[in-house]
Amino acid sequence: MLTDTRGRPLRDLRISITDRCNFRCTYCMPKSVFDRDYQFLPRAELLTFEEIDRVTGLFAQLGVQKLRVTGGEPLLRRGVEDLIGRLSAIEGIDDLALTTNGSLLARKAEGLAAAGLKRATVSLDAVDEETFARMNDVGFDLKTVLEGIEAAAAAGLKPVKINAVVQRGVNDNTIVDLAGHFRNTGHIVRFIEFMDVGNANGWRLNDVVSAREIHDAINDSWPLEPAEPTHRGEVASRYRYVDGGGEIGIISSVTAPFCGDCTRLRLSAEGKLYTCLFAHEGFDLRAMLRGGSADLEIIEALEALWRARADRYSEIRSEVTVALPKVEMSYIGG
Ligand code: GTP
Ligand code: 5AD
Ligand code: SF4
Ligand code: SF4
Repeated sequence: MLTDTRGRPLRDLRISITDRCNFRCTYCMPKSVFDRDYQFLPRAELLTFEEIDRVTGLFAQLGVQKLRVTGGEPLLRRGVEDLIGRLSAIEGIDDLALTTNGSLLARKAEGLAAAGLKRATVSLDAVDEETFARMNDVGFDLKTVLEGIEAAAAAGLKPVKINAVVQRGVNDNTIVDLAGHFRNTGHIVRFIEFMDVGNANGWRLNDVVSAREIHDAINDSWPLEPAEPTHRGEVASRYRYVDGGGEIGIISSVTAPFCGDCTRLRLSAEGKLYTCLFAHEGFDLRAMLRGGSADLEIIEALEALWRARADRYSEIRSEVTVALPKVEMSYIGG
């Protein structure tokens, strides 16, 4: 089995298909940086669906079982259903999920499910209109996203997971409402500690609301009990409502990092591979694809890349003294 220097196998591939987004979440694509002059990737630089299909097939041969299509906002890429169809047909892939901001989901959920998508995860930081509008920073209306979530569930993309980044002084006062809104719906809200990804979001440790604080706030309203992880390396700690109202997750990558079990590899829209969310350099797979490399050569390069992997940024965050520029979340995907 292919493992890295810390004995971790390669299991999940996260595929970003665009670096563009129609939101400007303040913690991800602040307008001050992602403004009118910001240079997004030109079309010709993006991997084509044929190229993504080919490399994913090779990854499946190396042990990848789980795919997540992400962005930017992946539903902005034309023909995404076609890509989903191709990916779902690859042998060895047993989970195919999509991360989206939900803005186009009401329209697209059925087509995506028909193409073979299994699950959808919707980023939604608050169910309070004002807080939501302030966080997406384009005044996007909440109702459309909520309709998208219901459309996803109706299309069978279940369980729908709702990812909420919690920032002190921004939406920490609304997390109990968010949890309450989705209790008894079968959807799973996952609260995420605000992370220092990228270079643009002005992260400070003081802005992080810890997993413990999040847990305690919800537990005070509806008592929680821990639930077993569904699989090794699951990023969220699961909790069940004692009264049977469903479950939530808390993702504690700052206060309790989970690098030890990290089996994730990330492919950017332009075909660079990153072995860590906090990496500053990627491996140029597109150069091999467009340079005429044979499958075997590519497989050997991928094996070498994974074998050499030593990343564990979240575990050593406080010891990192040289601040190299990191990739942006909107470029590499959540
Ligand atoms: P499920 O398979 O549905 O459990 O989801 P997942 O494990 O693919 O998680 P998802 O993509 O929904 O990730 C949720 C959030 O966790 C992301 O938006 C990130 O904020 C954080 N996260 C995911 N993967 C990593 C990782 O490898 N490192 C760190 N530090 N954070 C991560
Ligand atoms: N910290 C934690 N999560 C983040 N995301 C984006 N930026 C951050 C950050 N700084 C998450 C969003 C979304 C996914 C694309 O990444 O919640 O679910
Ligand atoms: Fe777009 Fe998602 Fe980033 Fe928000 S978090 S700006 S929705 S990519
Ligand atoms: Fe994996 Fe890097 Fe996240 Fe650690 S910080 S869990 S190594 S992606």
